Amino acid sequence: MSEIARVRALALRLAREAGRIQRERYETDLDVRTKSASIDLVTEVDHACERLIVETLDAERPDDAILAEEGGGADREDAAWRWIVDPLDGTVNFAHGYPRFCVSIGVQHEGVPTLGVVYDPLLDELFCAVRGAGATLNGRAIRVSRETELSRALLATGFAYDVHRSLEDNLDHFAHFAKAARGLRRDGSAALDLCYVAAGRFDGFWELKLHPWDVAAGNLIVEEAGGRTSDLAGNPPSGSGRETLASNRHLHDAMVELLTRGRR
Ligand code: IPD
Ligand code: CA
Ligand code: CA
Repeated sequence: MSEIARVRALALRLAREAGRIQRERYETDLDVRTKSASIDLVTEVDHACERLIVETLDAERPDDAILAEEGGGADREDAAWRWIVDPLDGTVNFAHGYPRFCVSIGVQHEGVPTLGVVYDPLLDELFCAVRGAGATLNGRAIRVSRETELSRALLATGFAYDVHRSLEDNLDHFAHFAKAARGLRRDGSAALDLCYVAAGRFDGFWELKLHPWDVAAGNLIVEEAGGRTSDLAGNPPSGSGRETLASNRHLHDAMVELLTRGRR
């Protein structure tokens, strides 16, 4: 088995195992705490999923680096393989019993995004992409939509946890797209939003102030499904997630145009 095949098999196993924890704990009594703001939540399930992933990686791939949202992994600059993990993307949904959340695992090889795995445990939907080998949903190839008109597009976005206090709150963009697109969704899991662009369910997605673990898997899955990812101005994504735009490619320029209105 090649190294990437081994990494892929492990990522798929970890996503499924963490997903099982989420499924079992969904709609049970949770210990919900806050992080950066009163609307930024974390539960013991976020920690349990991260612990499972990090402890398994430490045991099975001790030379790899890990960037994990809740701080459990050891990140190293010199590692050939780097795992970027959101153990539970959609924590506010999870805590409210809203059935939309996932596990997201991205892997870089020598700094290049190489593998993306996102697992929705309630729908049992497993999205996967390997650089150069296409994107799949439960093993079947997926493609972005063919929509070319913003007026017929279904788009998604999200708001950062500083929305109550920041002026850079995405509401200007939200207003522009509400007037331009067929529909807008704020569904609460950026990793799944990206996978839905890849699968042609959404035609485009944008968000500000995301983090590497929100986009590491999803951006690659979009690219491998034939879509395009960038910052808001259309430049290649930095990987930080700070400015995230993903589309079916056909709508990209039109979305950049609206997102940079007033900037130029
Ligand atoms: C959040 C979700 C949400 C997005 C937030 C993210 P978390 O991740 O992806 O959709 O709007 O910006 O932080 O906190 O649930 O892992
Ligand atoms: Ca997240
Ligand atoms: Ca998370």
